[in-house]
Amino acid sequence: MRTQVGIVGGGPAGLVLSHLLHLRGIESVVIELRGREELESEIRAGVLEQGTVDLLNAAGVGDRMRKEGAVHHGVNLQFDGRRERIDFEDLTGRAITVYGQHEVVKDLIQARLDAGGHILFETAATGLSDLDSEEPKIHFRRDAKLEGGKISFGEDPEEEELVCDHVVGCDGFFGVSRKAIPDGVRREYTRTYPFGWFGILVEGPPSTEELIYNLHERGFALVSTRSPEIQRLYFQCDPEDEVANWPDERIWEEMHARLDTGDWTLREGGIIQKNIVQMRSFVTEPMQYGRLFLAGDAAHIVPPTGAKGMNLALADVRVLARGLADFHESGGTDLLERYTELCLGRVWKASRFSWWMTSMLHRFEEDNAFQHRVQVAELDYVTSSRAAATTLAENYVGLPMDPAFKIPGEDQEQAAH
Ligand code: DHB
Repeated sequence: MRTQVGIVGGGPAGLVLSHLLHLRGIESVVIELRGREELESEIRAGVLEQGTVDLLNAAGVGDRMRKEGAVHHGVNLQFDGRRERIDFEDLTGRAITVYGQHEVVKDLIQARLDAGGHILFETAATGLSDLDSEEPKIHFRRDAKLEGGKISFGEDPEEEELVCDHVVGCDGFFGVSRKAIPDGVRREYTRTYPFGWFGILVEGPPSTEELIYNLHERGFALVSTRSPEIQRLYFQCDPEDEVANWPDERIWEEMHARLDTGDWTLREGGIIQKNIVQMRSFVTEPMQYGRLFLAGDAAHIVPPTGAKGMNLALADVRVLARGLADFHESGGTDLLERYTELCLGRVWKASRFSWWMTSMLHRFEEDNAFQHRVQVAELDYVTSSRAAATTLAENYVGLPMDPAFKIPGEDQEQAAH
């Protein structure tokens, strides 16, 4: 098999890239380990920066997001029994849209299949080769299943080969792509946080119009939403904890203890899903080796606080789509050669923001009484100084995108908002 761009991983980064390339007349094949249903039902974050919304709209995959997504013009920070609002509209003139990542994935898969796009589901990339040649290759096996972190194969699946002009690794932290960059070339920067997030999906009406990020001596809590009927709530937990330790009653007790104020109480509902999210910051440099490019979680992980993960992945892909289009349209390699440099500024700024939000809002075991008071002071400052509130707001809605990486039609979309 041969294609122009071989994409490992069918999450938002791989699918958006494949679609943007298609719009420029460039052919790609997406290799994805999971099945379509599994991919479409995996619950992840749900906050889209305005730049992400603009990109999806301009790529022609924004119809359902515009109808079903909720535009939020601010968020709340709650601490010391007070709730203070950060007004994005006033501070930045921009907004965010709450629309689940798995909904974005559903829209993208549909758009790719409608356009005759090639996605190989339940197919495992087993390795990459010839990355420093003009014909890099992805080795893969079909009929693959991922169970308990292990990949198994059906009867007699042969190893096949996809020969490409370029390979893009969008296969996440555990994928094969990043590890294909030789050890002597690859540098990795990591921070693991001593806590996780326990996430629940709740059937029932919202408790609040806008998100609440809550600092409490018992630990962080977050009130978010997915739709007018489904709420998304999180609370800080031990990263080693297990879902089975948390019957519904215990969850509600903990959430009320952290969130309720004198004049407001969290609204309960039927819990329809529970999961634990690990918290890690991670950046790989460089993001390119020969004709392999890494995008999204394959290159960098942020802790969930601030919901930057998918937004950052799609910002990588904008740069790649433009660089690959230059290559196929005129043979230009300047942007592709500068890919790492063009992405890393944004990557490290988003890493800093996510680390800062995490540090400001979570309970750290050591020296907690001192730390807690410093955190309260910081939240008081961030919500009372216009300068400080603006630094939070402009990072939350998304730092400005270099106009060179806007896709055709995007400015018109923006003007229409
Ligand atoms: C959500 C996740 C986040 O990490 C966040 O900061 C805000 C919202 C969510 O899943 O809704």
